Amino acid sequence: MEKNRHAGQIGWRSPSNIAIVKYWGKYGNQLPRNPSISFTLSQAFTETIIRYRTKEDTSGISLDFSFEGQPNDGFKNRIAQFLEKNKEEFGALQQFHLDIESKNSFPHSSGIASSASSMSALALGLCSVENSIADNTLSGTELLKRVSHISRLASGSACRSVYPHLAAWGQLDDIPGSSQDYAVELDGIHPVFHDFHDDILIVSKEEKSVSSSAGHRLMDGNVYAASRYQQAKDRTAILYAALKSGDVEAVGKIAEDEALTLHALMMCSEPSFVLMKPNSLEMISRIKDIRQRKKLPIYFTLDAGPNIHVLYPDAIASQAKEFIDSELIQLCEEGRVIRDRVGHGPEQIQNFSL
Ligand code: PMV
Repeated sequence: MEKNRHAGQIGWRSPSNIAIVKYWGKYGNQLPRNPSISFTLSQAFTETIIRYRTKEDTSGISLDFSFEGQPNDGFKNRIAQFLEKNKEEFGALQQFHLDIESKNSFPHSSGIASSASSMSALALGLCSVENSIADNTLSGTELLKRVSHISRLASGSACRSVYPHLAAWGQLDDIPGSSQDYAVELDGIHPVFHDFHDDILIVSKEEKSVSSSAGHRLMDGNVYAASRYQQAKDRTAILYAALKSGDVEAVGKIAEDEALTLHALMMCSEPSFVLMKPNSLEMISRIKDIRQRKKLPIYFTLDAGPNIHVLYPDAIASQAKEFIDSELIQLCEEGRVIRDRVGHGPEQIQNFSL
């Protein structure tokens, strides 16, 4: 019996998320300079399966890693470094060999950041393995806090992916239970946001010209840093109120202001980076134009890259699709769009002892 408890297979599907108030700037071990709020997505996800078995040598973590069916040493080394750097977190896992397999629902080279889905799927797997060998001592909110904390250590924004619908990360008086250390689910959100759409228009699938770690670091020397962090706090409070009251226009306005602020911060960093492409700007202008002309609640946001996320409520899904298909798809690289929307958070796909 003892032996059965020391070998098993656990798998999770975990989604990406899109921030409305953006986390940009960090300190210490992945702690945020300002609070952020995001929608948890559903169609852009990672599935990660961990097979674990006890090993003779218990002095360190050992692992194999394959991505989309192929052994991948680059990813394996990144995970090994993460486990090594945080090894005091993973005491129990040192008795195991971990065989990890991962795949994404979207093409790896699509220009969409995969770290939120991949690192939250990994954290869910690691925390489930340690919880399973410790007789499931953690459950419910406590388990999710631990998963969110571990996700954060792997990739900051990943900590928000573990909750359904919307999550907040960063300590803020208006948000009960909020923390620098992990994200929390945002309660009391108006149902209009529970199935909000986010169509991701791929403007370029090129690798980002600056990694997000380097981008966060640039905030340390940015002359606007202090006022930016205050602005993000203020906007988080306004956004939370608008999310509760169902004020789509206020949410859309903050989404756009935040995206443009993030890009402006990168443009005035030393060195500076222009992360949008001409087609990103053209899409933004067409989105503003349709909103004006047809009074449709269609808004945009961007991550630290050129791709445009088109945000709109489900009630206007057919008009939004018609607009995207007739006016925006032609501006996408190879016509690529990922039609995503707010979802229910991660799902366990495997859990058995061997
Ligand atoms: O989690 P990181 O370190 O890849 O940073 C993500 C930062 C943004 O995506 C630009 C904003 C956010 O809050 O997700």
